[in-house]
Amino acid sequence: MAESTDATVEEKDEDSSVGVVVDTDGFGDTATSDEVVLEVKNLQTHFTTRWGTVKAVDGVNYHVNRGETLGIVGESGSGKSVTALSLMRLVPTPPGKIVDGEVHLGGRNLLALSEREMTGVRGGEISIILQDPMQALNPVFDISNQVGEAIKIHQKLKGAALWDKVVDSLRKVRIPAPETRAKDYPHQLSGGMRQRVVGAIGISSAPAVIIADEPTTSLDVTIQAAYLRLLRQIQQEEGVGIIFITHDFGIVAKMCDRVAVMYAGRIVEVSDVRTIFNNPLHEYTKALISSVPKLEEKSGRLPQIEGQPPLLYNLPPGDAFAPRSTLEFTPEDAARRPPLVEVEKDHWVQLSRSSVSNYDKYANLMPAEDDE
Ligand SMILES: Nc1ncnc2c1ncn2[C@@H]1O[C@H](COP(=O)(O)OP(=O)(O)OP(=O)(O)O)[C@@H](O)[C@H]1O
Ligand SMILES: [Mg+2]
Repeated sequence: MAESTDATVEEKDEDSSVGVVVDTDGFGDTATSDEVVLEVKNLQTHFTTRWGTVKAVDGVNYHVNRGETLGIVGESGSGKSVTALSLMRLVPTPPGKIVDGEVHLGGRNLLALSEREMTGVRGGEISIILQDPMQALNPVFDISNQVGEAIKIHQKLKGAALWDKVVDSLRKVRIPAPETRAKDYPHQLSGGMRQRVVGAIGISSAPAVIIADEPTTSLDVTIQAAYLRLLRQIQQEEGVGIIFITHDFGIVAKMCDRVAVMYAGRIVEVSDVRTIFNNPLHEYTKALISSVPKLEEKSGRLPQIEGQPPLLYNLPPGDAFAPRSTLEFTPEDAARRPPLVEVEKDHWVQLSRSSVSNYDKYANLMPAEDDE
């Protein structure tokens, strides 16, 4: 297998005016299926601050299929991480609070579980891989201890059986000589190996869903590519659904099957990855994509798009994107909170004249305001 990420790029979508080539199999074939494993409905998470209530997550809906990678993109502060923490019920309370919504996984609504029941689910059926492996790992315990901890809780294994499972988990993330590595401490491993250990903890209990929140920002590009390829391989083997949060559209194009675009705590557009790159409808999605650096510029972070991200404690009541929109519209057009409408099969967009340039084409799909 080629080591360079760019070497795997063969296919270029026509009419793709940005520097990103959509090649969703770039890090390995897709394993997506039609079976929904996670469904998030009307999720709302607020923070109480001295400036007022911050609606960090303001009515988010999405689902993840078995074996699918759903990318979550959006500017800094748009609510990507708080959404992820809300699914895990890890929002710091106070100041945060999940005020409404449902999170369905394995036939249960996670938001209705007791804290004790949730402890069994967390790190079991759903787990999270964080950005900074040094933060996720405890420097004073060896690797076997930390991987073993998760297995002990969820699979009640002890002694030799526990050890075997630890070694097996490390082997799954392709850590060489896992029996020896298991006895190492985090500082004895390279950054890439540490990130794999975090991955091993994440998959050790065979979760249905893994949330990866910017999992490779601390890795250099080649190690990053190897790690993402590995994630994709594990996904194929285990059929796990991945929620992949990132700023990097290059990774989205290679890694994700579908993409949800977040703005001001809401999903403004969701579709398969090709449609998002080649036929985006929301002005915000278009702005994000046109700000992607060209292939030859290796920049990990997206440049800011025009205008300021909104203050989440002082959102405009209707279309939150309207103040940044360059379209022509009246105040009335922006006054209604735009409903998320399926405009083409599996292509959903928050529909309003203030944010969608071909609004007229889809206007007949707008639900009556009374129906909402
Ligand atoms: N503990 C907190 N107290 C108050 N507000 C918070 C807290 N944590 C998050 N927020 C607010 O919630 C909003 C969403 O934050 P979040 O971390 O989800 O953004 P993000 O999309 O993950 O951004 P980034 O790309 O920078 O990681 C932000 O406006 C942030 O200020
Ligand atoms: Mg974040």
